[in-house]
Amino acid sequence: MENTFYVTTPIYYVNDIPHIGHAYTTIAADVLARYHRLTGSKVFFLTGIDEHGQKVQEAARERNISPQEHCDEMVVRFQDLWKKFNISNDAFIRTTEERHKTVVQEILIYLYKKGEIYKTSYEGWYCVPDERFWTEKDLVEGCCPECGRTVQQIKESNYFFRMSNYQKWLIDYIEKHESFVLPQTRRNEILGFLRQPLEDLCISRPRKRLSWGIPIPFDSDYVTYVWFDALINYVSASGYLKDNDRFFPFWKNAVHLIGKDILTTHCVYWPTMLKAMGLEPPRMVFAHGWWTIEGKKMSKSLHNTVEPNMLIENYGTDPIRFFLLREGTFGLDSDFSHKALIHRVNSSLANDLGNLLNRSLAMTIKYFKGRIPKHSSFEAIDESLHEKAVQVVKKVDTHMGEVAFQKSLDSIWELIAMTNKYIDESAPWFLAKDTNKQKRLATVIYSVLESLRFISILLFPFIPSSAEKMWGALGMKESIDQQRLDNIKKWGMLKEGTVVTKIPPLFPRIEN
Ligand code: MSP
Repeated sequence: MENTFYVTTPIYYVNDIPHIGHAYTTIAADVLARYHRLTGSKVFFLTGIDEHGQKVQEAARERNISPQEHCDEMVVRFQDLWKKFNISNDAFIRTTEERHKTVVQEILIYLYKKGEIYKTSYEGWYCVPDERFWTEKDLVEGCCPECGRTVQQIKESNYFFRMSNYQKWLIDYIEKHESFVLPQTRRNEILGFLRQPLEDLCISRPRKRLSWGIPIPFDSDYVTYVWFDALINYVSASGYLKDNDRFFPFWKNAVHLIGKDILTTHCVYWPTMLKAMGLEPPRMVFAHGWWTIEGKKMSKSLHNTVEPNMLIENYGTDPIRFFLLREGTFGLDSDFSHKALIHRVNSSLANDLGNLLNRSLAMTIKYFKGRIPKHSSFEAIDESLHEKAVQVVKKVDTHMGEVAFQKSLDSIWELIAMTNKYIDESAPWFLAKDTNKQKRLATVIYSVLESLRFISILLFPFIPSSAEKMWGALGMKESIDQQRLDNIKKWGMLKEGTVVTKIPPLFPRIEN
């Protein structure tokens, strides 16, 4: 049976202006999706937008338009940005779509009938901006523990999901499944959180206070709590209840990429909801760290939000994709600065990779009129380059399985560095001057180009458009996104006689 791979990003709030935090998760998911396609898996890559809730209702009211009109206008900013970033998502879900709303309502009815949802009156502290209830002990100095703003005491009847029933099951599940919550620190955080008694989850909001939500199908006075609605996107968009034959094979291999701030919703609410629905938890929830900007928290009030469209304009798509995944470890916080970005692009992309490509193509053109030469028997130095290339493919595979982007790129750069060193040590420019060394020269140039073939394929998930140009420059005719690692990871597949082309520098140096 075909392998499947299902990767998701959080669905972003429609009101937000896309920033590098959003771009980070979406690019990471894109790299995983593209990598798994390369391995031959059948991939489903989902991203989308979270459109219900108080903030959307208020923003629309201020603009004097309907919430739906507001969403329809705002969603485009994300969709346009993903196009610019070359994001290869297979689907895009909006929570105001009928296909999503009906699944949410069917799930609500199922859980209600099953006794998993009940109505009761509740008194608690409510944070309006976060749309969340807190208990007295949750509050920090009388304020919302999440955003620090003042809370209001509210008494009202609402519907609750019996989340508390699943506490024991969840602890057990997390303990038995080591890679369900990653990285390890986040797994410990969730297990720590679960040492306190787990309460039931309020999953409705009275319509008189908030109307912009999915109506609770068994009580028209209420709409669905936005997180209960939003989490369901991961199953509604992949066919649950509507096309189960498509849904289940993907679901067993689902990986949710999220930021560390939305850990509880994804690792406590979501698996318990799924359990009550009779579904398995996703295979993995990986929580990445946050980007700070020049050492400071990114925030609207500090006016230091990094705007991705501006970054693309200044530096181009692939340098940003590369920087975001190379600069930090995926599960930890990272710091953004223009200086670091420029340094990284100049040293890794312009120098190491760009120069390797340029000089290799230039030598092929100069010494062999642009035709890939025929190699003769390989010497030890050639063999070690081959071995390295094959070994790097394996290493990247291991690292990608661990969602370790930085390590994957480091491994690819080992091959780039070794190829550069191979050229320096083999000194083709001396071989070229000696008529007796023409065969050796051909073998060296062949080996360099073959290594570049490996490099371009391995880089394709990370910097797709540049890798595609490299691939084209090497004279490869079939499209790079149709390649499968299994078929191409053998050394010596470049065909002699293929014509290479010189292309403008892929990564021009950025001057400070
Ligand atoms: N709508 C919810 C998610 C629902 S998923 C069923 C939401 N949306 S969000 O737009 O506020 O946040 C989306 C993501 O952006 C989160 O994963 C969050 O971690 C991430 N980031 C927000 N600021 C960030 C940084 N400064 N750095 C990295 N990621 C950051 O939450």
